[in-house]
Amino acid sequence: MTGTNTENTIDALRRIYHSGQAVRVLFVCLGNICRSPAADGIMHDIVKREDEADRWIIDSAGTGGYHVGDLPDRRMRLHARQRGLDLNHRCRQVSESDFDDFDIVIGMDASNISNLRRIAPSPQTEAKIVPMSAFFAPSERYDHVPDPYYEGSEGFELVLNLLQDGCRRLFDTVRTNERQQQQYF
Ligand code: 4NP
Repeated sequence: MTGTNTENTIDALRRIYHSGQAVRVLFVCLGNICRSPAADGIMHDIVKREDEADRWIIDSAGTGGYHVGDLPDRRMRLHARQRGLDLNHRCRQVSESDFDDFDIVIGMDASNISNLRRIAPSPQTEAKIVPMSAFFAPSERYDHVPDPYYEGSEGFELVLNLLQDGCRRLFDTVRTNERQQQQYF
C-alpha cells in the first residue's frame, strides 16, 4: 500500500524530526499483545541504540479491547527475548485522542487500517494512518504484518523479521532529510 497520503505523512514526520521536535509514533494491531507491542519494543530499542530516545515518543495500542492491561503474548515475549528484546508493554485500546497525541498511526494489516479509519475523529487525523508495509523493503513479498495469534513459532519469527526491517527503515526514512534518497514508495 503506497500513496500520497503516506508520502505526506512521512514528509511531515521528517519535518518534525528535523525541526528538533520529538516524533510521536503509535503502532496499532488488533489485540495489542503480539504485533504492535513487538514493533513498539523494536523501535524503542533502535532509538536507544542510536542515542535518540529523547527525540522519539513511541507507544502501541489495539483496536480491540480483549486483553487490556495484559503483558504481550507469552510466545511473542519469548521470541523477542531470543533477539535481546524485553517486551513489557501493557495492552491498551486505541482511542480518538491518540490521533491528536501521535504524528503517525501505523496499522499492521488492512483490517487494522479500516478499523483505525472508523476511529479517526477527522479527515486531518485520518491522514496520519499509514500501513507498516509502507516501510518494507521493495523486495519484500509480504504487503502486511500477518496476525501470528493462531500460528506457530514461524509466525512469530516472521512478524519479528518484518518489524525489525520495517522499524529500521522507518527510523532511517525519518532521519534522512531528502525524499529522493529513500525508495520505499
Ligand atoms: P495482535 O494479535 O493483533 O498482533 O496482538 C492478536 C492477539 C489477540 C487476538 C487477535 C490477534 N485475539 O483475538 O484475542
